[in-house]
Amino acid sequence: MATILIADDEKVLAQSLGMLFRDEGHQVGVALSGRDALRLAAENPPDVMLLDLRLPDMSGLEVLSEVRRTQPEAMVIMMTAHGDTATVVDAVKRGAFHYLNKPFELQEILLLVGKALEQQKLREEVTFLRERRHPAEGLEEMVGNCPAMQEVFRKVRLVAAAGDSAVLITGESGTGKELVAGALHRLSERSAHPFVELNCAAIPENLLESELFGFEKGAFTDAQQRKKGLFELAGQGTLFLDEIGEMPPHLQAKLLRFLEKRSFRRLGGTTDIQVGARIVAATNRDLRELVRQGRFREDLFYRLNVIPVHLPPLRERGSDTLALAGHFLAHFSRRLGRPVKRLAPAAEKAFLAYRWPGNIRELKNIVERLVILCPSEVIPVEQLPAEIRAGEGGPPMAGAFHIDEHLLGVERQLVLAALEEALGKKGLAAERLGISRHAFKRKLQKLGLGGEDEDEP
Ligand SMILES: Nc1ncnc2c1ncn2[C@@H]1O[C@H](COP(=O)(O)OP(=O)(O)OP(=O)(O)O)[C@@H](O)[C@H]1O
Ligand SMILES: [Mg+2]
Repeated sequence: MATILIADDEKVLAQSLGMLFRDEGHQVGVALSGRDALRLAAENPPDVMLLDLRLPDMSGLEVLSEVRRTQPEAMVIMMTAHGDTATVVDAVKRGAFHYLNKPFELQEILLLVGKALEQQKLREEVTFLRERRHPAEGLEEMVGNCPAMQEVFRKVRLVAAAGDSAVLITGESGTGKELVAGALHRLSERSAHPFVELNCAAIPENLLESELFGFEKGAFTDAQQRKKGLFELAGQGTLFLDEIGEMPPHLQAKLLRFLEKRSFRRLGGTTDIQVGARIVAATNRDLRELVRQGRFREDLFYRLNVIPVHLPPLRERGSDTLALAGHFLAHFSRRLGRPVKRLAPAAEKAFLAYRWPGNIRELKNIVERLVILCPSEVIPVEQLPAEIRAGEGGPPMAGAFHIDEHLLGVERQLVLAALEEALGKKGLAAERLGISRHAFKRKLQKLGLGGEDEDEP
């Protein structure tokens, strides 16, 4: 259902157009003057506006300019009489989507409005895609021969094919949760619809609500335009809520209400909007533990956890570690146009013995570095980073060994290496590590490496 505004002082025409679009299931407003048209447009922003070039009180061009300024998302179709050619050109220059010469067939205008709506949807998706990375990769891109991963793949295919139950993907950082979410979408019937991603940790708490639900113009001081939220943009697609464990409590309550009713309102809005998107959430935290601590709502947990998909850590995937190393060696060598390197047997042993706290992401980054830095075709164990060499045949990890300290050390090395490679640019370094800028800054602080808000261009 779209909102359509018709502005024409020919009452009969305006009203019959109104009926036509109401019959098509749209919400319709009819204005007989320019002033009325602007008032209606402000009250209920149209998706499409049919605008007569000649109105009694203002010229259609003036109305057009005003609407383009206040409602840039609206698609305006001008209705013109023969002989208006010069004005039509002017109208298109001012941002009209199209024009129709009067008299026209109703079929014609239906078609044109359909096109306008389609283009508007595309435009929304494009802006949205520009803003967010698209999960182009799916199961085909995922390496996993061990029984646990084969089981994950089987489940993902089943779940993708089956309806709209909520899915909760769990697993340590870097185990492939985002890949699985993307694959779930692409393998499902929803793949023709948007995949919308929200990182609950990376966005400021005060914006989270308006990101999710959108707002009406005037809902708060800065709300100069109506804005659709992610729930609305996702349509019949998939809404991926990443790092759901970081969602603040009052939004957990809202999300729960939404999941139960499958409808919501924009901030400041008065109508309920239905959504058919599937909700896929992911977290590297132990949600049950958060529930126990009272930091995550139990009822929401059960709502999200209808179908759990757990990704095992890399250290439990046996020889997949080597399969993945081979996969990334080939990938990065190809990208650099170099012969494909391989690991020397001792290096393979070290890879298998290492605990991989950063999982596949860590492995991928290390392999990339090896491909770039190692001169020989066979990578000797000496070329491996110290923490990996230490794992090889070393003492069992117990007793005097403090895992937390070790992890911090590894994290520190990864962060420093990323910063070095990114020539100190934090945004870039965060990208290399595959985490948000926000998360990266927090890490810097945690590791005592600074991270105050000196912004870089
Ligand atoms: N099985 C796999 N095969 C190939 N590449 C993988 C696999 N699993 C993960 N990757 C790659 O590893 C990196 C990390 O994966 P991803 O971003 O999905 O992790 P995540 O679980 O979402 O981590 P985090 O909790 O830190 O957000 C990505 O570059 C992804 O392409
Ligand atoms: Mg992730």
